[in-house]
Amino acid sequence: MTWTPSPMPSATPKSSTPRIVLGVAGGIAAYKSVELLRLLRDKGYHVAPVLTPDATRFVGTVTFSALASEPARTSLFGDPTTPIPHTYLGSGASLVIVAPATAHLIARYAMGLADDLLTATLLATRAPVLLCPAMHTEMWEQPSVQENLATLRRRGVLVLEPEIGHLAGGDEGTGRLVEPVRIVELVDRIIQGYRGALTGARVLVSAGGTREAIDPVRVLSNRSSGKQGYALAETACRMGARVTLVTTMERALSLDTVNAIEVVAVESAAELGEAMRTHSRESDCVIMAAAVADFTLTAAGEKLKKREGAPELHLKLSPDILADLVAHRTKGQIIVGFAAETAKVLENGLLKLREKGVDLLVVNDVSAPGAGFEHATNEVILLEHSKEPERISLRSKEAISWEILARVAALLPPRAP
Ligand code: CTP
Repeated sequence: MTWTPSPMPSATPKSSTPRIVLGVAGGIAAYKSVELLRLLRDKGYHVAPVLTPDATRFVGTVTFSALASEPARTSLFGDPTTPIPHTYLGSGASLVIVAPATAHLIARYAMGLADDLLTATLLATRAPVLLCPAMHTEMWEQPSVQENLATLRRRGVLVLEPEIGHLAGGDEGTGRLVEPVRIVELVDRIIQGYRGALTGARVLVSAGGTREAIDPVRVLSNRSSGKQGYALAETACRMGARVTLVTTMERALSLDTVNAIEVVAVESAAELGEAMRTHSRESDCVIMAAAVADFTLTAAGEKLKKREGAPELHLKLSPDILADLVAHRTKGQIIVGFAAETAKVLENGLLKLREKGVDLLVVNDVSAPGAGFEHATNEVILLEHSKEPERISLRSKEAISWEILARVAALLPPRAP
């Protein structure tokens, strides 16, 4: 395909051709992005290159401009044809790729810095972002680099991990930029809708503590805040799943990905059970993060009056929703349960894993500092039938969700694209 100079860019480009911003950071692998650019153009993509100032020490903008659909850009300032280049590039993009993504670029993106055109474009876009890191093995293995990548992954950023092979300076190890043909294969899938390991999966999550009415004004409830269930719903959505959230906390909590998640508001254990049964028929994975009341009662029709003395509440066991979901599971459906424990946590968890018949059990020591009900953080043990228990140390409920959903993705049958 030959290069045709584009007309002066408008604020929001309108074209059915997918538009790709190709970011290039300052690493030796920058020379491979020239090949990547050529392959993307061969596929018919509209490609706008953005080089960091350091990238221009390795490769020249003239090379990129000659092969691309638009001249290569390197700066937020000084281009009279595009006065606000980061919003022009960010809002018009179908995909932003950074290849190579250096440790420095990854750190700046994870921090939300916008000190050059590429990082400003990354913040100014709602398009999917694909990072293709390349660096020396020692740098790649640094906890800081891995933690920054984990943060970005949780936010929905796709990461194509580097390969093992020859590195600059004659070293050998992990850190080599993935071959451009493989990057293009993933680009094609992203353009077709791939967003992560749960792409195409339908995930049903329950969240919050149920409320059992005593009378029209009083309820029996528990300390569940719904935060872990909400974090699971959001993270599953960022990993590409179609998510339904059955929640008792609709009025208390909000979602970032509000339009992408179907929300079903419920209150009692009976309502939650009904909603879960209905929606589970269509789900590939069901996650029971809600704290369901084990005891319920028949509500009085009118407010109980104090002058009549303290009422006797006749509690009865409420049905186990999770057991019912397991009994009626559809073929290949993955079911995840939670266990709230305060003593003999692992022992009780292993017992519950067997009794409940779930594929994955997330055991919560709800009495541990910073874990369980109401906290923004959590600490859990993941239990599967054929695996050793895995302790996930204290971290945000989003980070916990990522660990749980990575297990779910591995348990689900492979799917296209
Ligand atoms: N659960 C449920 N229906 C119930 C009670 C619990 O579906 N009536 C689900 C919870 O959502 C959770 C799992 O079962 O996924 C375990 O809940 P937990 O409260 O830890 O255990 P229980 O089964 O209620 O047993 P116990 O309270 O005796 O520990």
